[in-house]
Amino acid sequence: MRGRITGIKTYADPVLVGDLMQGGTVGEVVESNHPKFFVGDFVVGMWGWQEYTVSDGKGVQKLNPHLAPVSTALGVLGMPGMTAFFGFLEICHPKSGETVVVSGAAGAVGSLVGQIAKIKGCRVVGIAGGDDKVDFIVNELGFDGGFNYKTTDNYIAKLKELCPNGIDCYFDNVGGAITDAVFPLLNLYARVSVCGQISQYNLAKPEPGPRLLTYILVKQARVEGFIVIRWMDRWSEGIVQMAQWLREGHIKYREDIVHGFENIPAAFIAMLNGKNTGKMLIQA
Ligand SMILES: NC(=O)c1ccc[n+]([C@@H]2O[C@H](COP(=O)([O-])OP(=O)(O)OC[C@H]3O[C@@H](n4cnc5c(N)ncnc54)[C@H](OP(=O)(O)O)[C@@H]3O)[C@@H](O)[C@H]2O)c1
Repeated sequence: MRGRITGIKTYADPVLVGDLMQGGTVGEVVESNHPKFFVGDFVVGMWGWQEYTVSDGKGVQKLNPHLAPVSTALGVLGMPGMTAFFGFLEICHPKSGETVVVSGAAGAVGSLVGQIAKIKGCRVVGIAGGDDKVDFIVNELGFDGGFNYKTTDNYIAKLKELCPNGIDCYFDNVGGAITDAVFPLLNLYARVSVCGQISQYNLAKPEPGPRLLTYILVKQARVEGFIVIRWMDRWSEGIVQMAQWLREGHIKYREDIVHGFENIPAAFIAMLNGKNTGKMLIQA
């Protein structure tokens, strides 16, 4: 969403001033002439920041509120869940006993990546921007360790302490100085999944940054970026697995719900500033 409002085409078309802001939405059908959708049905789709929309049913998924709260279709059982599931498993190929580091660890995607890594038998260290967030990932979600990057001076020293056997997998949500500190600690044949670079999204000028390719060279590491729609055709496989882990209690999730349609822009800015834990949602 942040990328779209720069006005530059990335993997998605830009949203220009006056355009409808894009985003995933869960809604309730209030009128229907469609043979498959009925008044009262809950649905999920990409309708953006608006209270009502008209749809021909294409790209619309019906939800069963008895199986899971409908809000999960925007989080753990929706796009962020699939980002964590496929972006981590398909790129990092974690093995039991390996050390995994996740940045943006208390957010919608990061909090799920760490728990999936635990399910796969890994040692998991998360990096987040608050003591409450570190407490959440370690004491509620079961990460093995974590640190608050806002109050830690030396990221490399802290990572060395928390990852005594080096880092085999890094799931990067943030980029910048945090990612710079991870690369020198990568192990031989490490895998880095580049999911997001949120520390860079608001910068007027790109940071120069250190040159990290030597670490990739000497550690024969693999760094790969992805956009979650790459696995669109396998979405149902991911949802079924995440739903099973959820039912079995292996995965927990948190939603940060702001009420009021008019509060969407403020909530969006708050999310970029790290005010959320788990998935930031608006209940309009
Ligand atoms: N590749 C894909 O297909 C795909 C799909 C979905 C999302 N993403 C990316 O995944 C990342 C996480 O998305 P999300 O929806 O799960 O958001 P989120 O993690 O729930 O929320 C964003 C978090 O980013 C952190 N943050 C903000 N500025 C930061 C900075 N300068 N340095 C470090 N952390 C910072 C904040 O947490 P702190 O308090 O910890 O700073 C904030 O809570 C984003 O980069 C997003 O663009 C990629």
